[in-house]
Amino acid sequence: MQPRCAIADVPGPDSGRGAGRTRPGNGPMAPAVDFSIAFERSLPCGLCVGVSIPEDSSAITPAVLARLHPDEAGHAVTLHPRRQATWIAGRLALRAALAGLGAPPDPILPDDRGAPGVPRGMVGSISHKRLLAVGLASRECGWTVGVDVEQRQMGKQDITSRVLTGAERAGLAALDPAAREQAVMLCFSLKESIYKAIDPHVRRYVGFHEVDLALLPDGSARVDTHLVSAERLQVEGWWSFARDHVLTGARARPG
Ligand SMILES: CC(C)(COP(=O)(O)OP(=O)(O)OC[C@H]1O[C@@H](n2cnc3c(N)ncnc32)[C@H](O)[C@@H]1OP(=O)(O)O)[C@@H](O)C(=O)NCCC(=O)NCCS
Repeated sequence: MQPRCAIADVPGPDSGRGAGRTRPGNGPMAPAVDFSIAFERSLPCGLCVGVSIPEDSSAITPAVLARLHPDEAGHAVTLHPRRQATWIAGRLALRAALAGLGAPPDPILPDDRGAPGVPRGMVGSISHKRLLAVGLASRECGWTVGVDVEQRQMGKQDITSRVLTGAERAGLAALDPAAREQAVMLCFSLKESIYKAIDPHVRRYVGFHEVDLALLPDGSARVDTHLVSAERLQVEGWWSFARDHVLTGARARPG
């Protein structure tokens, strides 16, 4: 059995190795320019696009708003200024991923659960941190998808016991502190991705301890769900790195 959360062979930062390939010709990481495409990566669960977020909200110009669907631009200006940049960048990332798969440029507005609504025949997901947003899109073929980015380093608060099950924590015991911290952030991120992928099926809050993960060295993960409401779902997940972030993706379907 694979050690839980133990990462024996961690790829270097920005490697894109493991969970999918970065599109040739685009390079693994373009230099950061505000609201520009930072990377485009093919993950097993869909096409993932990253967008750089400006530090300064004055970068939200009419030209940037014009890159959104008019309905999205109308929604963006209603948001608190602190939320506008991440919301816009998430739309631009998912819009680019959808366009890469040939989807029509319909508005991506929040549904009743806060998830991004995508054109018929597609599935998609959004995540953002302060300086990076990602969008993941795939053609609808029975799976729903989720994506998440997190900083590689844990913040001031140790989230280990909140996020990991006892079995997962036991699997980390042999790791050195740096590898353990990275494994915790990867598990945290993958659980957020899984939350977004399974939410359309369960439509309820799912706790971190309802899923057990084993991160595998090839960038995939073994996912064991023990949902308190006993829904039967097939869930798969992948992990990688992008800039100084961890990047994870997941997909789910009944079964
Ligand atoms: C909803 C949640 C997953 C968002 O994650 P986050 O790290 O706070 O924020 P992220 O930037 O990664 O994601 C935010 C995006 O998620 C999407 N989102 C929000 N609610 C969603 C839902 N119910 N389903 C799918 N996607 C959702 C939105 O697109 C949102 O961005 P936007 O408002 O700009 O469009 C998180 O706040 C949460 O509630 N988690 C519940 C606990 C959990 O993760 N359990 C794990 C179980 S395995």
